[in-house]
Amino acid sequence: MPLLDAARAARDNAYAPYSHFKVGAAVRGKSGTIYSGCNVENVSYPQGTCAEAGALAAMVASGETEFVEAVVIADSQHPVPPCGGCRQKLAEFGAGHVKVTLATTAGESRSYTIAELLPGAFALDHMSQAADDR
Ligand code: THU
Repeated sequence: MPLLDAARAARDNAYAPYSHFKVGAAVRGKSGTIYSGCNVENVSYPQGTCAEAGALAAMVASGETEFVEAVVIADSQHPVPPCGGCRQKLAEFGAGHVKVTLATTAGESRSYTIAELLPGAFALDHMSQAADDR
């Protein structure tokens, strides 16, 4: 599966000298193009970025703002759920029904929709009152 392969290849390049936990992610843009990313840690720990953020940044940098499928892969006992911040980032660029597959390097996987990963997501319409005030 090309999306899984891309996430796996990105994971190989993860920079995780502090946690030693490498993560890869890949998203398929609406155009069909695949964008991948890995976690990039920093000696100042909070400056590190997640794999999902990298894949989404690559997509946006290439001129796309919508993805239709995503895969996240890590070497763990069970598929690793995206962190809270990444769920919000995924929801920014993917519709609620979009499938996110969480995989392990050993071959286990579980799929969720973005809406399942982030129920009650903060969205643009929550700011409609602010727009009225402008
Ligand atoms: N990490 C990700 O890249 N994505 C996630 O969804 C969960 C956590 C990374 C961040 C950090 O580099 C390492 O995993 C350990 O938390």
